[in-house]
Amino acid sequence: MERKEFMKSIGQGAAFTLTFSCLSGCLEAENGLADQALIPDANGVLFSLDLNSSEGQSLKSPGDYIIKNTVVIAVNQQGNYVAATQVCSHKTIKQVIFRNDEFYCTEHGARFTQQGVGLNSDASKGLLIYPIQVQGQTLSILAP
Ligand code: FES
Repeated sequence: MERKEFMKSIGQGAAFTLTFSCLSGCLEAENGLADQALIPDANGVLFSLDLNSSEGQSLKSPGDYIIKNTVVIAVNQQGNYVAATQVCSHKTIKQVIFRNDEFYCTEHGARFTQQGVGLNSDASKGLLIYPIQVQGQTLSILAP
């Protein structure tokens, strides 16, 4: 059966449904679920950064953070690196930053601990946390 015949046989409603579901999936990717596309290497590393690079130099003091590949990488008050997805679990949009030693969504104010536990109602679904490995001057974000 040709594609045109198939579309005719399932009718306009089904065609709309198929189109709509595709659009919906595309919007999800656009809204930040793209971090699911991070593929770990054989060692479980999603990506790395050089701490001597300009972005690495932005991670020197407690409270500093950068966003790379939809991951928020921060320095906590103890001077340790922590990382979480930038995609808020409340409405799956990329609005998470690091503030007051917590992950925080600027959209509606969801607050998450450094372990990804929600601290208020908008944060009830928790937040995806990434393990971090530091070897020399290389910081790696690992698969959760
Ligand atoms: S989208 Fe993050 S708190 Fe609503």
